[in-house]
Amino acid sequence: MCGIFAVSGQEKNAGSVVLRGLKKLEYRGYDSWGVAIRNLSGGIEVDKEVGKISSVQHKFGSAKEAIGHTRWATHGGVTKKNAHPHKVGGVTIVHNGIFENYQVWKKKLNKNSFQSETDTEIIAGMLETSLVKKKEITKKEVAECIREVCAEIQGRFGILVMVEGVSGIFAARRGSPLILGRGKKETYIASDIPAFLEKTNTVNYLDDDEMVYIQEGKVEFSNLKTGALVKKRDIKVSWKTEEAEKGEWPHFMIKEIFDQKDTIARAINHDDKLLNKAAKLLQSANGAYFVACGTAHKVAMAAEYFFTEISGRKINVVPASEMTSFEKFVNKKTAIIAVSQSGETADVLEILERGKKRGAKILALTNVESSSIARLAHVHLPIKAGPEKAVASTKAATSQMALLFLLAFADSGQINFGRFILRSTAESINDLINPRYEERIRRVAKKIVKHPNLFIIGRKSLYPMALESAIKIQEVSYIHAQGFAAGELKHGPIALIEKGTPCLVLGGGQETVSNATELKARGAFIIGISPNRQDVFDEWLKVPDCNGAQAIATIIPVQILAYHLAVLRGLDPDMPRNLAKSVTVK
Ligand code: AGP
Ligand code: GLU
Repeated sequence: MCGIFAVSGQEKNAGSVVLRGLKKLEYRGYDSWGVAIRNLSGGIEVDKEVGKISSVQHKFGSAKEAIGHTRWATHGGVTKKNAHPHKVGGVTIVHNGIFENYQVWKKKLNKNSFQSETDTEIIAGMLETSLVKKKEITKKEVAECIREVCAEIQGRFGILVMVEGVSGIFAARRGSPLILGRGKKETYIASDIPAFLEKTNTVNYLDDDEMVYIQEGKVEFSNLKTGALVKKRDIKVSWKTEEAEKGEWPHFMIKEIFDQKDTIARAINHDDKLLNKAAKLLQSANGAYFVACGTAHKVAMAAEYFFTEISGRKINVVPASEMTSFEKFVNKKTAIIAVSQSGETADVLEILERGKKRGAKILALTNVESSSIARLAHVHLPIKAGPEKAVASTKAATSQMALLFLLAFADSGQINFGRFILRSTAESINDLINPRYEERIRRVAKKIVKHPNLFIIGRKSLYPMALESAIKIQEVSYIHAQGFAAGELKHGPIALIEKGTPCLVLGGGQETVSNATELKARGAFIIGISPNRQDVFDEWLKVPDCNGAQAIATIIPVQILAYHLAVLRGLDPDMPRNLAKSVTVK
């Protein structure tokens, strides 16, 4: 969470370049923002404010270097003082992550001058304390101090540092993403590529325990523990600027929902060799776990059904944050399958790191191709959905499902048949999503928007989709939504149904329809999402019949519904309260 961005160049507009880049990272955190520039006399000036950065118009003084931050608070409330950058003496810093042992150091430093309640300011304090002990302060001493201080930090961090009197910007990472963008005569560092994509698509990824120093076009990577210089390969990213922009669309969320016209076909466009390699990793394992969070976890739950039905393989699904309880079963015969859009989710990363130490084989599906999770995996399957910027995951989820569905077929030795089903699924989804369909769903949204509660039911792979529907609706519309296995209703949840309570019924199978009838008998307003209309439905949203891949098509109208519920309630679906796009803290 939180977006950080730095530029060092020859132009004197570094402040506004950073502001513009941060606006593109706002999906990572949007409770406050701040920018520090090195003015032309060498002094560092900090501007920060509470609130979203998107509408900020700010005039900065001339500067060739600047760092900035858009925050998702972990330590200390959302206040101007807690907003980054934090400046202690001549040291200015922005930080993404959590400094777990910061209290110990806060006491040790015993400074009365700390302004904020953040963990970040303590890092600035530690750096400043060790810098003032040096006889002279040059680039070498700053790098040394950063190494010393980072050695004391427990937790995850991506930091950017500017020091008065020393030109250039320093960055270091352990656990939080940092990517370097190479311009012609300027260099960028950001937590995600969209921040500088309009300037360059040539990038280097920082790995854990690496540091980089940039000054204009000069770039020096080094090992954060030893200081030894590190060589990096330039990578050209294939993302296009338009993909990371919302263009004419009112919000990223609806743009990304419509992107699904192409993304599902793209997700399965993998050569057989890679799919077979991934399948082999599973076949040679004795026990497999899916680990993932949020929507990706619901995708994994759907994939549990795919594998069971298609290749007869049982894969355990555990939310990454719960996996430590099962770690004793993880050994060198275990396969861990990580599913993550961002590839940076801290809970998942930690489990993979620990699993790897126990000898487990890691298979990862991520959207961000050179993310930390992707780089940690033994086999990586990119889902190729293009940048997903809305906090609510939509196109990444359907791409993950398509790819996992195909992988289950690869596991059963029938890739071509899986591809055949998915191709026709992709085609019917392409036909499904259009403005008329959206308008039809918007009208349904209008009918239910005032209800405080909403329930969703489904069976088999539509059961995890009921859970996913609840996440989608909760996170963007703030309506209390809950998903259930359709057969579980009569064991408790049905007591919640009152006259007019909206219920989404995913699927039109006989048993699900019976459960819908039970709901209707208690007064529920039934919105059916299925290939065929059923008498019990008060409203019907048609989806194509997609064989075993039904989960992929069924979630799409719910995504559109969630979007319109949010818009009708006057909310910004791209930036739901309290949330951030990638959760890089535990
Ligand atoms: C999805 O709509 C949510 N914003 C969230 O649950 C998300 O899926 C989760 O945080 C996992 O993220 P990841 O896929 O980047 O790992
Ligand atoms: N821990 C820092 C803070 O609360 C950074 C949070 C983040 O990474 O989003 O300000």
